[in-house]
Amino acid sequence: MIKPLTLGGVTFPNNLIQGPLAGLSCAPFRRLTWQFSQPAFSCTEMISCKTLLNSPIALQQRFVKIDPLEGPVCFQLSSNNASELAEATKRVTGFGAQLVDLNCGCPVKKIRSKGAGSGLLTHPAQLYQLITAMKQSTHLPVSVKIRVEGNSNDKFNAEVAQVVSDAGADFLVVHGRHWTEHYETPCKHDDIRFFVETMKIPVIGNGDISNLSSLKTMLETGCAGVMIGRAGVGQPWLIKQLEAEFNQESFIIPPLNVIRDCFLEHVKDLTTLLNNEKFAVLQARTFAKYYARDVNNKAQFCTEMNSCTSINHLEQLLFRYFS
Ligand SMILES: Cc1cc2nc3c(=O)[nH]c(=O)nc-3n(C[C@H](O)[C@H](O)[C@H](O)COP(=O)(O)O)c2cc1C
Repeated sequence: MIKPLTLGGVTFPNNLIQGPLAGLSCAPFRRLTWQFSQPAFSCTEMISCKTLLNSPIALQQRFVKIDPLEGPVCFQLSSNNASELAEATKRVTGFGAQLVDLNCGCPVKKIRSKGAGSGLLTHPAQLYQLITAMKQSTHLPVSVKIRVEGNSNDKFNAEVAQVVSDAGADFLVVHGRHWTEHYETPCKHDDIRFFVETMKIPVIGNGDISNLSSLKTMLETGCAGVMIGRAGVGQPWLIKQLEAEFNQESFIIPPLNVIRDCFLEHVKDLTTLLNNEKFAVLQARTFAKYYARDVNNKAQFCTEMNSCTSINHLEQLLFRYFS
């Protein structure tokens, strides 16, 4: 069901969440989502505690800025060190976070090799310490976002469920893939159901939600809410659309020229946030494919995007392909 969601004593009007996407989910993206949809909350991209604590304030803006026009924000932190994580949790609480999440799903080698991200899933004692450090450092709801071990009877999933509960996390987000799996591997709903049935705290299901049917499949796991990742990019109205369709209300999907305007607005706002047009446009190359879902000649557009270095050039390309 789409219904209000209570996490750590805080109630949100619905249970549809826009998840964290590195390189994407900073304030411009989140504000765009809020312009068209009202998720329970949306997430920052993963923020390294070291970066947060040690880099100059100007460099941190990309990670910590909250737009006045967006709703509640969950800050996602990454660390393998309890005292560093405690300090970072205090900082983001002061910055206006409404929830704080620990990343335990990142599959990137550089992160795993430091014992962070999905590397924490096989180090339960360390995971316990990190969660308790967060809980002791904020009054906000604290969550953990994990990947699964790939088999709902696997002892690792049971162990992770136990540690997350024992350490006092307020809720758990489960992305139903193993850290070695790419997006071609379908999300494992049975593994998500295992966590839902095992745990007393709310479990949020994540993976492959892009339309009403995949939303319903996820809700059938019994999860308290759902998190949407990639499908929210380039269609900031998706959460609104899913809510309407779930309630059998009509929803008119905005045409291609609205997607074009959203893309342009996203990159212009990113330029302002980063104070660097070139960097914003380079970043836009990585997410152009999401905005170009419905473009006739998507492959050629993406190829041309790869030589785009300015907003002017981007604008020309968008008016050529998105009309
Ligand atoms: C480009 C990209 C960046 C991501 N960055 C993060 C991140 O910073 N933190 C995180 O927990 N998950 C991250 N994820 C994983 C997503 O949050 C989500 O778990 C995953 O994409 C599955 O959901 P989906 O099928 O709805 O996209 C990222 C995924 C993608 C594709």
